[in-house]
Amino acid sequence: MNPTDFSTYSSYYKRVIDHALPTYITGLTSPSIIKDAMIYSLSAGGKRIRPLLLFATLRAFGKEEEIGLPIACAVEMIHTYSLIHDDLPSMDNDDLRRGKPTNHKVYGEAIAILAGDGLLTHSFHLISNMSHPLVTSEMKLALISLLSKSAGPEGMVGGQVADMEGENKNLPLHELEYIHIHKTGKLLAFCILAGGILSSAEEHQLAKLEEFALHVGLAFQIQDDILDIEGNEEMLGKPVGSDVHNQKTTYPSLLTMQGAKEKLQYHIDEAVRSLHDVGVNHDYLEEICNMIASRNH
Ligand code: IPE
Ligand code: IPE
Ligand code: MG
Ligand code: MG
Ligand code: MG
Repeated sequence: MNPTDFSTYSSYYKRVIDHALPTYITGLTSPSIIKDAMIYSLSAGGKRIRPLLLFATLRAFGKEEEIGLPIACAVEMIHTYSLIHDDLPSMDNDDLRRGKPTNHKVYGEAIAILAGDGLLTHSFHLISNMSHPLVTSEMKLALISLLSKSAGPEGMVGGQVADMEGENKNLPLHELEYIHIHKTGKLLAFCILAGGILSSAEEHQLAKLEEFALHVGLAFQIQDDILDIEGNEEMLGKPVGSDVHNQKTTYPSLLTMQGAKEKLQYHIDEAVRSLHDVGVNHDYLEEICNMIASRNH
């Protein structure tokens, strides 16, 4: 697919993901309650920005987006698991997600925890079973290795732990940066690097993509913090004020709202600068940067 405008491109691939995700679950021989709970959160909506980053990176290298479809779905499963667990009473204790009651509100805490566990483990099954002729076993291994690191204790899980431990404390900027880079940035970075791996990118290109991804991840979570204050619950599909209620240090709480917005713009500018250094077609990746800076949901 090669639409000439970004908004057609992004809505097309959002639909592709929305359609594909449940197809990986419905045929499983699992108790129906767990399948229902997984599909409930997967199909509740979501911007699908992680898949979009992967597809736009493949496009940047002149590859077919479809090569990355199972990986995009795997990432969206891991992201959805992280949201289900993030909303649990023992974590952020939120009742609304993607415009619907949170998973534990509908299925109870035990099934919500297991739905998260199921999505996490099944995601690796998707990647190991990829059968596209252009995806080699070496690529699959590299992707599984990077994804497990990005989502695990040195990645997203580590960031979530630091986020929890930081509650009720005034964290310094470098600790807040650690949290944002890990709880949010690592999974976003995986999508970009996965596009590079599938495109057999050169080492120096992967290094620049990693730099790009670091700034994208920080910018994305800074805007998430801003929207937790300035956003609209209906647009966001999740509660506003969750961070203040849970006494989290955020970019606006640490730097003021104006300071947070300046930092956001700084990371967007740096992201675009690194992206240009990759030396590929950067049109839609740059559009995603602009989308992150101006998003209201
Ligand atoms: C929300 O992620 C949690 C963060 C990591 C900031 P998204 O804003 O991508 O949530 P969805 O997928 O669109 O619901
Ligand atoms: C959570 O960050 C990031 C992950 C789920 C890994 P937040 O707690 O800020 O996300 P929201 O605001 O609930 O979506
Ligand atoms: Mg949280
Ligand atoms: Mg939360
Ligand atoms: Mg938030």
